[in-house]
Amino acid sequence: MEVKTSLLDNMIGVGDMVLLEPLTADSFLENLRNRFDHNEIYTYIGSVVISLNPYRSLPIYTPDKVEEYRNRNFYELSPHIYALADEAYRSLRDQDKDQCILITGESGAGKTEASKLVMSYVAAVCGKGQEVNKVKEQLLQSNPVLEAFGNAKTVRNDNSSRFGKYMDIEFDFKGDPLGGVISNYLLEKSRVVKQPRGERNFHIFYQLLSGASDETLKKLKLERDFSKYNYLSLDSAAVNGLDDAANFRTVRNAMQIVGFMEDELHSVLELVAAVLKLGNIEFKHESRCNGIDESRIKDKNDLKEMCELLGIEQSVLERAFSYRTVEAKLEKMSTTLNVAQAYCARDALAKNLYSRLFSWLVTRINESIKAQTKARHKVMGVLDIYGFEIFEDGDNSFEQFVINYCNEKLQQIFIELTLREEQEEYVREGIEWTNIEYFNNAIICDLIENNQNGILAMLDEECLRPGTVTDETFLDKLNTICGEHQHFESRLSKNSKFLTDHSLPHNCFRIQHYAGKVLYRVEGFVDKNNDLLYRDLSQAMFKANHNLMKQLFPEGNPAKVNLKRPPTAGFQFKASVGTLMKNLQTKNPNYIRCIKPNDKKTPHIFTDSLVRHQVSYLGLMENVRVRRAGYAFRQPYEPCLERYKMLCRRTWPHWRGPAREGVEVLMGDLQVPHEEFSYGRSKIFIRNPRTLFFLEERRRQCLRDLATLIQKIYRGWKCCSRFLLLKKSQVVVAAWYRRYAQQKKYQQIKSATTVVQSYTRGWQARKLLRELKYQKKCEKAATTIAAYWHGTQARRELRRLKEEARRRHAVAVIWAYWKGLKVRREYRKFFRANAGKKIYNFAIQRIAQKYFLGLKSSLPSMSPIDKSWPVRPYVFLDGVHSELRRIFHLWRCKKYRSEFTSEKKAVFEEKLEASELFKDKKTLYPSSVNQPFKGDYLEISKNPKYQKLSSTVDEKVLLADVVNKINRANGKGTARIFLLTKKNFILADQKTGQVKASVPLPDVTSVSVSTQSDGFFALKLREGSASAVKGDFLLSSEHLIELITKLHHVGVTAADQEQLNVDISDEFLVQFKQDKVCVKFIQTPPKNGNGASCKRRNNRLLEVSVPLTV
Ligand SMILES: Nc1ncnc2c1ncn2[C@@H]1O[C@H](COP(=O)(O)OP(=O)(O)O)[C@@H](O)[C@H]1O
Ligand SMILES: [Mg+2]
Repeated sequence: MEVKTSLLDNMIGVGDMVLLEPLTADSFLENLRNRFDHNEIYTYIGSVVISLNPYRSLPIYTPDKVEEYRNRNFYELSPHIYALADEAYRSLRDQDKDQCILITGESGAGKTEASKLVMSYVAAVCGKGQEVNKVKEQLLQSNPVLEAFGNAKTVRNDNSSRFGKYMDIEFDFKGDPLGGVISNYLLEKSRVVKQPRGERNFHIFYQLLSGASDETLKKLKLERDFSKYNYLSLDSAAVNGLDDAANFRTVRNAMQIVGFMEDELHSVLELVAAVLKLGNIEFKHESRCNGIDESRIKDKNDLKEMCELLGIEQSVLERAFSYRTVEAKLEKMSTTLNVAQAYCARDALAKNLYSRLFSWLVTRINESIKAQTKARHKVMGVLDIYGFEIFEDGDNSFEQFVINYCNEKLQQIFIELTLREEQEEYVREGIEWTNIEYFNNAIICDLIENNQNGILAMLDEECLRPGTVTDETFLDKLNTICGEHQHFESRLSKNSKFLTDHSLPHNCFRIQHYAGKVLYRVEGFVDKNNDLLYRDLSQAMFKANHNLMKQLFPEGNPAKVNLKRPPTAGFQFKASVGTLMKNLQTKNPNYIRCIKPNDKKTPHIFTDSLVRHQVSYLGLMENVRVRRAGYAFRQPYEPCLERYKMLCRRTWPHWRGPAREGVEVLMGDLQVPHEEFSYGRSKIFIRNPRTLFFLEERRRQCLRDLATLIQKIYRGWKCCSRFLLLKKSQVVVAAWYRRYAQQKKYQQIKSATTVVQSYTRGWQARKLLRELKYQKKCEKAATTIAAYWHGTQARRELRRLKEEARRRHAVAVIWAYWKGLKVRREYRKFFRANAGKKIYNFAIQRIAQKYFLGLKSSLPSMSPIDKSWPVRPYVFLDGVHSELRRIFHLWRCKKYRSEFTSEKKAVFEEKLEASELFKDKKTLYPSSVNQPFKGDYLEISKNPKYQKLSSTVDEKVLLADVVNKINRANGKGTARIFLLTKKNFILADQKTGQVKASVPLPDVTSVSVSTQSDGFFALKLREGSASAVKGDFLLSSEHLIELITKLHHVGVTAADQEQLNVDISDEFLVQFKQDKVCVKFIQTPPKNGNGASCKRRNNRLLEVSVPLTV
């Protein structure tokens, strides 16, 4: 549903100044400021849009905004330039009315931007399609081209348009653009050669130098450095926020889109370069002999390059700068130019060249963008013309004069059209109209343009007048002719009040424009109006070998020499303004009045005085007043009824009758006083804004109540639908829950059933198993019983068979016996003769055989000491039996012996020797039998302790043992090492290994030992031998048997030795030095010590007590 809104909704201040209450200059200004502070830069006065320059980009030109304003009524939304553009476009399209959009305001107020916004809006909302888009694009892209060549940075505006532009956009009956026509007005060409302080030349010069490629610059014989060119003022070459290089690319691109050929583009750039070169040509003074001053070109390099660029013969141009040919009728005169004149000629050429180039560009663009069909079309004109311009220091010249004249004309048309339209509307609507006072600037226009005594006419007259013509003579003329005009002021005018006005210099005149007083300096007026270019120069230009150049200077064609003066600049301008005005008057005007909020080009600053001044000279207050003189507000009946119908019960919610009647009912019901409004034919006219505000207030209240009502109903509906939804949801939830519960219950039952089932099945299975087992048992039992039974049967059968067999056997035996008996009885007589002997031998043989076989299987082990032997089975074999035993024993002893090694044999031989020596002679012997004879108990050769000792012994040690040497004095023992070799025995200290005694064995005559279990022994030495000096040795050893046996054995084996005697007795004599001592062994009951002890009883007796072995 479309939302019906109004500019009255959410309004900041008032959106339409007509509604301002009270209407004063202050409140007007305050409203503008208030809205400006809230970024509302647009405000209406009826259908006029006031636009304040925000000096920053606002987010109000988006495609969404375009959509918002598209096809909406003017007052439906808050004020916007789009609303105006839409209104204009729709009335063009739908009502077939040609439109013009007049954008006025001071320089820098935002006119050019506004014109672009209007064009872009129209481009966005009009038809689409490939062809249409191309046209649109060309129309839009003509802007950058013209801006590059026609705009410059000024103190007021960084992108100030230095020409007036009026563009007719042509549409077909559907509202699709077909093409356009651009008209340009008076380019400010003086800028080409000189720029005021803080301003720049036209953008294209800077763009070319910054943005062209090195190659292009080389072709154009240019350098990138601005400072190389006299025509480029240096103080503001770079402008903030302006990227010249990027813009150059944009311009080239735009020219291509518009349809410029590559060579055309190059030609244009060549001309631009030529202008720059021209500026660098300088002249010097040269005196001739005839006293006439002449000028010469200083440095011809620039001239040369320029001529090369344009294909001009250098000498021709050089001459044109030095001479001037004057032709009158058929006479030709040539005069020389002085330096100043030469400079003038140069500058005039530069200005002309540039301005003609600009006009050519416009023509060329027009060629491209002109509508292709001849069909009738509708036109929307957009006028963006230079704004009213005043230089405060009175430096206003001819340019400002014509600019301001143009603005006066526009103001005039504004006044005329607004008033006329207002009046026409009242007439149309049948409303009574009373005239309203306002300032009409027609009088000022008259002052300037009057054909008889207007300033422009004066100027032309002065220019054409023969004789000396200067700016001063022109001012004099003005003083005499216009002196009495109430808007003309001059020191020497007829009006004496200015005679003493020091703010008015002598060489100036002042005009009271509608927008304020402007002081014009007359200097240059005549020249600029003449706008003459010496024919020599135009002819030189025409001679150029350059297509474009030729086109620009057609008057230089010698074939078409025209001696008539060309029309003056003022005349031309007046004529074109006249044409423009006529053109505008045929169209439906739409006004955009641009206001500059500050002089600093900065956002957010609102300078009261500046705005107040603009408001006043633009006549905006009058505009409002005129608008309100009759009725402040008007509205067609339908929207009015639609908007306020809720204020009356009868019209709310629907009024079925005609809208006008509805509004009448409504007004009657609201008791609005009759003088406050009038009914027109299609509109209601409201006299006072107060009444409108009263209606609005009532509407607001009513809307509140309605909102409450809507809220109430909506809430009720919402609660109800929510309840229904909840209810529905509850049913769904319940259904789902029940389903879930039932599912769960079913699952439980199912699992319970499964359990019960499994139990039952188990029980049944077990029962079956039991039965099966029982059956099996029964079968098994039956089998067992059967088996037993069969067993019993079988055994019984077996017994019976056995019995039968026995019986049969018995019968056979008996029968055999009986037979034997019979046979024996029969053969007894033969048998008795030799059978007895045979049977005996046989029996003996059998027994012997049996015996040997039995013995063979029961032989004892092969151990010689095994005493066992099988028992004798028959007495008669007693002898054989014991003989076999002996033989067996001998055999196994032999067998045993045959397994001996020689070492083992030696050991056994020693053992045998020991047995021969001691068996049954000494009690100690039996205990020695199972002790192996180890010999070297001390491991003498391996033990490092006895290394020294073993080294003294050369022979093999047969025995090494520790023995006790019995002290002869007290019978106590001292441990000594006893070494036995084949040759001698050695006694040595046990600890040190020092040899105490070494006795050659032949010196030992005998050994005496006791019969008892002790280890004492005495070694008796041969009397008279060297060893016997100390006497015999009494020693005791733990290996007595072995020691003596070895000692004895050495004696036995050594051939040169006598056999050693071994005396075994309990009393023997020992030679101790001189004494012979008797050693006596006595048996004592066993004691703790369990060892034999020796005691010296007296000189002759040494008693050894040997404990009795049990
Ligand atoms: N509607 C706008 N939004 C943003 N900036 C604007 C607007 N109108 C004007 N301007 C700024 O102000 C400058 C001057 O505007 P311009 O249209 O060239 O002035 P004029 O043509 O009246 O001399 C522009 O370059 C731009 O920076
Ligand atoms: Mg402009």
